[in-house]
Amino acid sequence: MAHRQASSTESASQKPSRTAAAPQRPPTTPARPGRPVTPRSASRPGPAPRPSLAGIISEQEAIFIRRQPESARLAGTAKSALAGGVTSSWQIARPQPVWLSHGSGSKLYDVDGNEYVDMHGGYGVSLAGHAHPAIVEAVRRQVASGTHFAQPTTDALAVATQLTERFELPLWRFANSGTEATMDAVHLMRAITGRDLIIKVEGCYHGHHDSVQVSVYPEPEEMGPAQCPASAPSSTGIPKALTDLTLIVGFNDLATVDRVLTEHKDQVAGMILEPIMMNAGIIPPEPGYLASLKELLHRHGALLTFDEVKTGLTAGPRGAVGVTGVTPDIICLAKAIGGGLSVAAIGGTAQVMKHVADGEYEMVGTFNGNPLAMAATRAMLYEVATPQAYQRIEQLRRLAVTAAEQAIAANGLTANVVSVGAKGCIVFTAGPVKNFRDFLGINGEYSHAHWLYQHNGGVFLPPWGKAEQWLISVQHDSADIDRFNSNVARFAASIAGAGEVLDSAG
Ligand SMILES: Cc1ncc(COP(=O)(O)O)c(C=O)c1O
Repeated sequence: MAHRQASSTESASQKPSRTAAAPQRPPTTPARPGRPVTPRSASRPGPAPRPSLAGIISEQEAIFIRRQPESARLAGTAKSALAGGVTSSWQIARPQPVWLSHGSGSKLYDVDGNEYVDMHGGYGVSLAGHAHPAIVEAVRRQVASGTHFAQPTTDALAVATQLTERFELPLWRFANSGTEATMDAVHLMRAITGRDLIIKVEGCYHGHHDSVQVSVYPEPEEMGPAQCPASAPSSTGIPKALTDLTLIVGFNDLATVDRVLTEHKDQVAGMILEPIMMNAGIIPPEPGYLASLKELLHRHGALLTFDEVKTGLTAGPRGAVGVTGVTPDIICLAKAIGGGLSVAAIGGTAQVMKHVADGEYEMVGTFNGNPLAMAATRAMLYEVATPQAYQRIEQLRRLAVTAAEQAIAANGLTANVVSVGAKGCIVFTAGPVKNFRDFLGINGEYSHAHWLYQHNGGVFLPPWGKAEQWLISVQHDSADIDRFNSNVARFAASIAGAGEVLDSAG
């Protein structure tokens, strides 16, 4: 299990180990055997030695720290009140956590007064941008009328109706976080089938409850063979008995699902996956994969859950369902749907949700359908995530992708751009990445260097660059994307001039 204390020599460019201890550093990015980084200096002698990738990173980290003295001070002081000095372990990133003061439109401001184009989006939440007038108005109105009743409101009905239109599932319930939504989905699959085992994809993150904290970011030595991946706990505190109930398969690998279902005949309740993987860069499903998966699972009496917590409204107005044309039995939504408030939704077919309606599975929670969250979600769905907004996002996506591809080509980098809807990322490898094991072969130091260039150039991307994606909000404009693009150009030129070759291709 990946679980280590920070070390100054470890890479921080890979998403942190999914463990409970804090402060943490991520595991060292594993180098792909036999594909070493090749020094170029011997073949291209020049008068001045070019900086190494490590040199570029340390220079950019020094700039980063110089720009943020107040963040450094707060990070130190906070350790006496907040465990690890932050409010979630994934806010600890190299070289130091960034403390923010406020957001407005497409911009974020740190406590040192630096302005950023926000393409972090609070890990994929801020599709509305910050302080969107429709969200502000909905929240203002609801705050003045009461923020909690623990009884349904008409906003909940409007939200459910709109989710049905977008995601083609007739019945919905609400929760407060992605973790709760996927937890309910797993419970529901087990409750309906009376079976204990579930199937999960290696490298997919579905939140921090026990059943899915398995093989999220496994270390290479605990992964097992590709056709028979091991179930590795991804956090301390997860009982082995529960880990063993989660069977692991690779993304885009139908044969292993078939084998698992056959070997565990009539024991598998269902499978949960991100239909487009978004915790390992962006990994699209191969054509036909999701439709065949659904058919295969149904043939074995098992259910299919899409975790659309990340893809939800960001892959497009109808999420991955709209992009891929496949509707599962259960969908989990969270992050962007609440317009910045804490909300999640679980949708299901009539057959599935009958078990909730009957009370056979009690889907409960004091804050479920909270009126404040429902007011914001209603505004998000009806007033913010509109067809016009998606058209605008698409134009901006094209600007970003075209510029990044040009910078890669102009500088001869081994990298490519993957994007869907409001999300995108630069993947530092030549070949297509089809699953978590391909993803592991990417050298995360390049992603970290890119993240630093963007940050120091006034664009806030999510840390753990290799694992995460940019988010374009409905409030971004072409000037914001220009800033991103000019940082990409400077980064690409600097990396091309570095005394190392990008050679992480798999
Ligand atoms: C795909 C996916 N599912 C579930 C979750 C858990 O969501 P939350 O952090 O709201 O519990 C996340 C969080 O990053 C996620 O990316």
